[in-house]
Amino acid sequence: MGSPMKIQTLLVTAALLAFAGCSKDKPAAKGETEAPAKAAAEKAAPAAAPAPAGEHPIIAQVGGEAATVFKQRCGTCHGLSGKGDGAAAQALNPKPRSFEDAAWQATITDDHIKKVIVEGGAAVGKSPLMAPNPDLKGKDDVVAGLVKIVRGMQKK
Ligand code: HEC
Repeated sequence: MGSPMKIQTLLVTAALLAFAGCSKDKPAAKGETEAPAKAAAEKAAPAAAPAPAGEHPIIAQVGGEAATVFKQRCGTCHGLSGKGDGAAAQALNPKPRSFEDAAWQATITDDHIKKVIVEGGAAVGKSPLMAPNPDLKGKDDVVAGLVKIVRGMQKK
């Protein structure tokens, strides 16, 4: 017990837990002084703090599964900035919608956005290139998070 690697792993794990806010009010874990944990937490912070370049900050603000789904699926076409400039956008016609467009945002309801996300573009008379996400049916919090992200990308 107690190889340097092991101790470091333990410290980093404890720091990450503290950073996630699980143990804010709890005393430091056994056998550990506060200082190294703090230093490790500070080290871990930049990864979670500012959004990477080109990624709209609303994604991290909403967080959770919605953020993951947006980055893994929606961003491919709509772009992580929401401008409609994802890697796959080039090949698509019509182009993925830009969520920055305030005029479009004003014409559309949250329920419409939810329907488009779960059932796809074809379900609302839009292009079938806007892919359905049937696995999100019933995952109301994830879909609501995605709506928040789409809304948050509007340019003011
Ligand atoms: C394979 C590419 C692709 C992916 C992945 C994709 N979209 Fe789209 N999306 C499109 C295209 C293309 C359109 C434009 C359809 C049209 O105008 O007919 C669109 C349109 C939309 C619209 C506007 C619909 C309207 O009525 O104007 C919303 C909202 C939307 N997408 C949200 C999302 C969200 C949220 C995700 C992730 C869950 C996502 N899209 C994933 C291609 C994609």
